[in-house]
Amino acid sequence: MKQHPSWLIANWKMYGSADSVRGYAFAINSALSRAPASITGVFCPPLPYLALARAALPYNSRLKIGAQNCHGEKEGAHTGETSAPMLADNGCGYVIIGHSERRAGGETDAAIATKLARALEAGLVPILCVGESAEAHAAGTTTDMLSQQLALLGELPLSRVLIAYEPIWAIGSGKTPTAAEIAAAHRHIKSVLGSETSVLYGGSVNARNLREILSLPEVSGALIGSASLKVSDMEAIIAAAAEVRG
Ligand code: PGA
Repeated sequence: MKQHPSWLIANWKMYGSADSVRGYAFAINSALSRAPASITGVFCPPLPYLALARAALPYNSRLKIGAQNCHGEKEGAHTGETSAPMLADNGCGYVIIGHSERRAGGETDAAIATKLARALEAGLVPILCVGESAEAHAAGTTTDMLSQQLALLGELPLSRVLIAYEPIWAIGSGKTPTAAEIAAAHRHIKSVLGSETSVLYGGSVNARNLREILSLPEVSGALIGSASLKVSDMEAIIAAAAEVRG
C-alpha cells in the first residue's frame, strides 16, 4: 500500500552552533535514509546556519532545509531582513511562516499573507502555523480562532502549503491536546481548506507521544521544537514515525 507522505520538521528556533548544525545535518540525514521514503525531514536552523547545513548534506539529501521566517518583499531597504528568493538561493526548500512566537512579537495576519505569497513565488514550501490560545481552548472556541487565522490564505494556491496546527498553550509547555482534540482541529482545517491539505501537528511533540499523534489518519507529520535539538532525540522521533508510517 502506498503510504501518505509525512513531514518531520525540526524547528531549532534560536539555538545551535556551527559545529552542532553540521553534525546534526549529517546524522539526521543518515537516520532518514533508513526510514520509509514517504517521510520527509526538514531542518530549520537559525538563519546564519542555513547554507552551512545545506553544505553538510549530499545533493540528493533526504533531509531538506527550511528557514524559520522570511520577509514579505522580494528585496528592498529592510535592514536585517531576508527575502524568500534569498532563502531559495541558499538551498532552502521550506519556510515556516506565522509561528506563534512571531505572532506574539507583533506579526499580523496581513504580514503573514504577504510572506506566504512571496514564499510561493520563490518556489518555497510554506509551513503556515495556526493554533488557538489557552483562553480559546478553555472557552471551546478553537475552531473559530483557526477559521480566522486560515482566512488570511484568501486566494493563494494551497496545493504547496503545509499547515502546522500548533496550539499556543502546547508549545514548549509539555502539554498536548487529547488525540480527539488534535483530530477535530485537523478535520476542521481540512474542512476549510480542502481535504487534500496536509496538516501537521506541533506543540510538545516527542518520541513518546508522536506514535499516538501520527496514528491519527488526519495528521501528516509533526513540527518539533525542543525535542528536535538533540541528535538522539530526533533519531528516536524518526524511528517512531517509521514504525507508524512504515
Ligand atoms: P515545542 O515547539 O516542540 O518545543 O513545543 C514547537 C514549536 O514551537 O514549533
